[in-house]
Amino acid sequence: MNYYENILVSNNNGLSVITINRPNKLNALNKTTIEELHQTLKIADNDADIKVIIVTGSGEKAFVAGADISEFADFSVEEGGKLAAKGQKLLFDFIENLSTPVIAAVNGFALGGGLELAMACHFRIASNNAKMGLPEVSLGVIPGYGGTQRLPNLVGKGRAMEMIMTAGMIDANQAMSYGLVNHVTSQEELLPFCEKLAQKISRNSSVAIAAAIRAINANYIDGTNGFEVEIEEFGNCFGTEDFTEGTTAFLQKRKADFPGR
Ligand code: COA
Repeated sequence: MNYYENILVSNNNGLSVITINRPNKLNALNKTTIEELHQTLKIADNDADIKVIIVTGSGEKAFVAGADISEFADFSVEEGGKLAAKGQKLLFDFIENLSTPVIAAVNGFALGGGLELAMACHFRIASNNAKMGLPEVSLGVIPGYGGTQRLPNLVGKGRAMEMIMTAGMIDANQAMSYGLVNHVTSQEELLPFCEKLAQKISRNSSVAIAAAIRAINANYIDGTNGFEVEIEEFGNCFGTEDFTEGTTAFLQKRKADFPGR
């Protein structure tokens, strides 16, 4: 049973596939979609049986073609600021800081808020029809869901400047050469490929993975020393059941069966 207007959720074998489902609007992120994504991601993250989340778009054309332009076209300065702040908190920062790994399966256009959503995920795989860009300046606005920060982090300042200033799109192979996506597949292979990666991730300690996410993210927080966060997270691992199981299994020459605690 699906309770959401614009989101489909399919849970299977430790994997939650969250599909943004507004194909007639190229899966553009309106208010409801952002709220429903927040809810579904939160539920998946709190479910101990879910080891990996995949976020994708429905249909063959788009991952997400941006924030829904029709919703903000008449906004004031104050409303514009609030839109960005609320979206960043509810979805983009939220997703980046989830303990459960989130893979973006970029199955088509990822523009504006769509690329920002993909960039907030822990990493990205694209199908060969995907096109990515931050076209906001062509609308007289700038990226507001973290794009000016995450794009330079992923591709370097010069490339980010060019992409944002030209408002142009790059294809999947160029995105891979930029380091924006990790792999490019055919359209049919996109989800199976992501699922295989998810299975590989699921075999490892979910507690250690969550600690690794926190330590890696610490590198991008102003005023935080990532090395110190790493030392603390590393130390904390020694107190987990997963650590006991992982090291014991290695010494006993068997595969670890992590309790996830
Ligand atoms: N917000 C709201 N609606 C959007 C949208 C967005 N970001 N992107 C696409 N749509 C809607 C279109 O308005 C159209 O709706 P309609 O059929 O009711 O008129 C529908 O999705 C299909 O889009 P369309 O433009 O007809 O498809 P296309 O194949 O001709 O072009 C794009 C595809 C992606 C190039 C084009 O839709 C586009 O430029 N979208 C906006 C991208 C953007 O600027 N995003 C950043 C927003 S900040």
